[in-house]
Amino acid sequence: MTESYIPRANYDFPDQPINSDQAHPDPLEQFRIWFEKESIEADGDGNRMALATADRSGSPSLRMVLLKQYTSNGFLFFTDYRSRKGIELDQNPHAALLFYWERRQRQVRIEGRVEKVSREVSEDYFSRRPRASQAGATTSHQSAPLPDRSRFEQQVETLVGQGDPIDCPEHWGGYRLVADRYEFWQGQPGRIHRRILYQPEGGDWHRSELQP
Ligand SMILES: Cc1cc2nc3c(=O)[nH]c(=O)nc-3n(C[C@H](O)[C@H](O)[C@H](O)COP(=O)(O)O)c2cc1C
Repeated sequence: MTESYIPRANYDFPDQPINSDQAHPDPLEQFRIWFEKESIEADGDGNRMALATADRSGSPSLRMVLLKQYTSNGFLFFTDYRSRKGIELDQNPHAALLFYWERRQRQVRIEGRVEKVSREVSEDYFSRRPRASQAGATTSHQSAPLPDRSRFEQQVETLVGQGDPIDCPEHWGGYRLVADRYEFWQGQPGRIHRRILYQPEGGDWHRSELQP
């Protein structure tokens, strides 16, 4: 039987490559340059990222989340602390993030340690969410089995309809990933891609280039 393969996408890798001299000395600033460009061109969708976690035994799992802020304190996202990712982060607080920005043929890989943010940060963000999202996050025990969908929907609806403000539940909040490794990948013609790696060195960042 003849094997069939997914056809090769016809990318033309339009962007100028960065090399390790041109790249910003601070990887957070390099991230900002690429992220802001993507955010403008993607109409605000550039903050979708894959989050990889692993359990105690090292078995990995992966899902999409939304980046909500990035500062020298880390990359911030919000979720249910009791979800699968939350349980895995309790067992193993190391994680990886991946951004893929197809338009410019770029990917950014970020790895590091993850910690919960303060209650104040979670409560502040929660208070700005739409009421339906607040009700959903309050009612849902993310990643647990759902035996009765219509009952669940009713509970959400009831909560939305009540007049009282919905407080941020204890089980919900933010995590920040404090990066200790970044890789910026720029697609290039002929698969001769550019890959700039940043690793900590003596309180600063060391830049180097990887083979494609
Ligand atoms: C584009 C996109 C963005 C998402 N953003 C979030 C998010 O910010 N937080 C979250 O908890 N789940 C988000 N989800 C849902 C997660 O991918 C996932 O289904 C959920 O968090 C449960 O994952 P877990 O069982 O591995 O914990 C998003 C899904 C997509 C497709």
